[in-house]
Amino acid sequence: MAQAAGWVVLKFGGTSVSQRGRWDTIGRIAAKRAQEEQCRVLVVVSALSGVTNELQAIANGDDVGGRVHALVQRHEGFCRELGLDPASVLGERLGALQGLASDPRAASRPLDWQAEVLAQGELLSSTLGAHYLHASGLDFGWCDARDWLQAVALPNQSAWAGRLAVNCNREAAPGFVERFAAQPARMLLTQGFIARHEDGGTAVLGRGGSDTSAACLGALLGARRVEIWTDVPGMFSANPREVPDARLLARLDYAEAQEIATTGAKVLHPRSIGPCRHAGVPMAILDTARPDLPGTRIDSSAATVPGVKAISRRDGVVLVSMESIGMWQQVGFLADIFERFRRHGLSVDLIGSSETNVTISLDPSENLVTTNVLEALAADLGEICRVKVIVPCAAITLVGRGMRSLLHRLSDIWAAFGRERVHLISQSSNDLNLTFVIDEADADGLLPLLHAELIRGGAMPVLDASVFGPSWKEITFGPVQRPQPWWVGRRERLLEMAGAGTPRYVYDLATVRERARGLLASDAVDRCFFAIKANPHPAILHAVTTEGFGLECVSRGELDHVFGVLPELSPQRVLFTPSFAPRGEYEHAFDRGVAVTIDNLEALQRWPELFRGRTVWLRLDLGRGEGHHEKVKTGGAAAKFGLPLAKFDAFLALARSLDVRISGLHAHLGSGIDDPLHWREVYANLAGLADAVGTVETIDIGGGLGVPYTPDAQHFDLVAWRNGLDEIKAAYPRYGLVIEPGRYLVAESGVLLLSATQVVEKDGIVRVGANAGMNALMRPAVYEAWHGIHNLSRLDDADTAAFDVVGPICETGDVLGRNRLLPTATAEGDILLVADAGAYGMVMANTYNLRALPAEDIIE
Ligand code: LLP
Repeated sequence: MAQAAGWVVLKFGGTSVSQRGRWDTIGRIAAKRAQEEQCRVLVVVSALSGVTNELQAIANGDDVGGRVHALVQRHEGFCRELGLDPASVLGERLGALQGLASDPRAASRPLDWQAEVLAQGELLSSTLGAHYLHASGLDFGWCDARDWLQAVALPNQSAWAGRLAVNCNREAAPGFVERFAAQPARMLLTQGFIARHEDGGTAVLGRGGSDTSAACLGALLGARRVEIWTDVPGMFSANPREVPDARLLARLDYAEAQEIATTGAKVLHPRSIGPCRHAGVPMAILDTARPDLPGTRIDSSAATVPGVKAISRRDGVVLVSMESIGMWQQVGFLADIFERFRRHGLSVDLIGSSETNVTISLDPSENLVTTNVLEALAADLGEICRVKVIVPCAAITLVGRGMRSLLHRLSDIWAAFGRERVHLISQSSNDLNLTFVIDEADADGLLPLLHAELIRGGAMPVLDASVFGPSWKEITFGPVQRPQPWWVGRRERLLEMAGAGTPRYVYDLATVRERARGLLASDAVDRCFFAIKANPHPAILHAVTTEGFGLECVSRGELDHVFGVLPELSPQRVLFTPSFAPRGEYEHAFDRGVAVTIDNLEALQRWPELFRGRTVWLRLDLGRGEGHHEKVKTGGAAAKFGLPLAKFDAFLALARSLDVRISGLHAHLGSGIDDPLHWREVYANLAGLADAVGTVETIDIGGGLGVPYTPDAQHFDLVAWRNGLDEIKAAYPRYGLVIEPGRYLVAESGVLLLSATQVVEKDGIVRVGANAGMNALMRPAVYEAWHGIHNLSRLDDADTAAFDVVGPICETGDVLGRNRLLPTATAEGDILLVADAGAYGMVMANTYNLRALPAEDIIE
């Protein structure tokens, strides 16, 4: 036998040991580790699933005979399924189980007897497994975990905890590793959950004990790694059952993992991290059904990337709010109240305090809160303050390094919580944890929303591949399938164009036409207008109008441009939707004969003669905004756009008195909206209002359709969008339905070509400079927008090194992308391509620092 140096510890839970096929997997994984890493392997197993619960019932004295009989049957049956002889393999062990039932101690059920009963599950499963793996030809032996794990008594520990929820020794006795290694088989199988009591009897580690056993053994052996094999692919940025977009956490440091495990994630027992952290043994969480997935790695060298790594929710939290007038500067008040919590055996989790109020939370999983305890506590506290118990609450926790420096990125999160009643906010001083306590009922549906906001606002850096892996959805249903972008096949042509000078925008008209046709294919939509503010390039205006689109303008400049480029265009195919425009622009628009939209009452009041007898469209603020960033949400009190519904009646009355006819209702609530059903809602809202006006013919539901900028984003769900509109149009068929998207038609058609100027390393960050930055493309600087960045000159090289891609402008915000993977050889003179830059790119470019505007080219 090869006495290879070093151990890898593998732990498998109940579901992984209850089927024959799963044992084959265990054998395969263990043998692979031993072979590939030239190491020895210790496998730690739980009891077959459900067995510990049965043993607990037996330990409670509940139908002991019947339960023991059923357990004997189950294990004998499984033994036969494994092709083993029950009598010779399990006879002795099952005899021991039956012996415990007839033991005289069974009558009084002392703790030592209970511990022995509970230990039988692991002893049985490990015995079965070791025989099976050995019979399969693997060099597997069995050992009794109690010979190696020692329960240690803690001060103030109850007798119950000192036997049934023990802690284990952390320091190995001299010679421990040598003695352990002297066991002959190369691979060993042992039990989780059980340890030796100092009286020589059996003790157990309590719930989650098997993870902790594996961690303790790994720590004592100074193992290369402890692997926790489960039925999920690792730790996630949120519970995937609630948040399918939750991302796999590829790498965490011990402190983060500890915090995530403690605040909600169930995959790893929080107690198991301490021993490995103490001994510096790396941990991994892996998926038994998909052993090739990378899982979650936990170690001390994990890059300390600041950002929220996970969001979790704990239900059943009890809040106790204590109000006292006499508290201000009263020495010992807190000591008095905490003394009472101690007296009732309740441990306090979160604390918030003000001059007259202290509010604390109790975590039910730790405190075994019963109504009686709370009543008694409240009565007790009532002697020194006014008490209010608030139940049930939910604690929502954001976990990640550097929470303090992230607060400015959490504005959307504060806004989301602003709609709920937050009882308590707590920020831990280790800078890892920010917790909000709200009513449990309010927490439903909140997590997916918060998770999305964290990503959108940049607080959760999911594009950093050193920390975040694929989403649960992607792992389960396969990676997002997106066709190759057009520019990959046009590389030579683009490099040639770049030769004529950079910065340079290039637009692919075929992509514009394709997007336009996708929208025109909707039966429910009667007319489509292209919002030219996204990209007014003449070739694009020609292309979209040829496809059948009209054009939407917001300024006199845009109107003049449109009719300059397309002199034959009928004014009926043009909308004018200005914001705070000067009076003269409305006059000009009326003169041109285009449809004019007004969005406030004051315009009618101040310029009655301008509007008298005219036909107009009315833009409404439906009270809410949507979009990829706070700055592009155009509804709600914070936005300057639209007539609020509160003024709707006054507007109608004034319009009537001025003989102004309202033939259209309009709402555009924001830009970059991914929810395909948003527009259906808008139509429903406007149609309901249109009935009240009486003269409305057209309903304009705005633009704002999103595009997938990031690699993991899904393409806008056009089918769901169309279906939603079909349905709502069928409900209100009498209005013409108008849309006015900009971005959707042009974003993906455009790339920005730049030349690399310098590659510079500073304080560990490598930056590649481009000859234009926020002057050519403002979106990253203004909205923290993400654009793919590629080295077009080295497109065939692997992207192996991380760069910050910056521009030449004298502002710290002049960054096009952070931590982007590009070929290591990226150097001066390379052509960089910024993807999806066709919308709000060139049109927002400027000459700041007196740098020239980019050139523009078209690919027909
Ligand atoms: N209709 C109105 C009244 C608008 O204000 C806008 C855009 C649109 C339609 C077209 O929205 P789209 O389909 O393109 O999302 N510069 C920002 C976007 C600002 C959008 C302004 N209004 C960005 O780069 O994300």
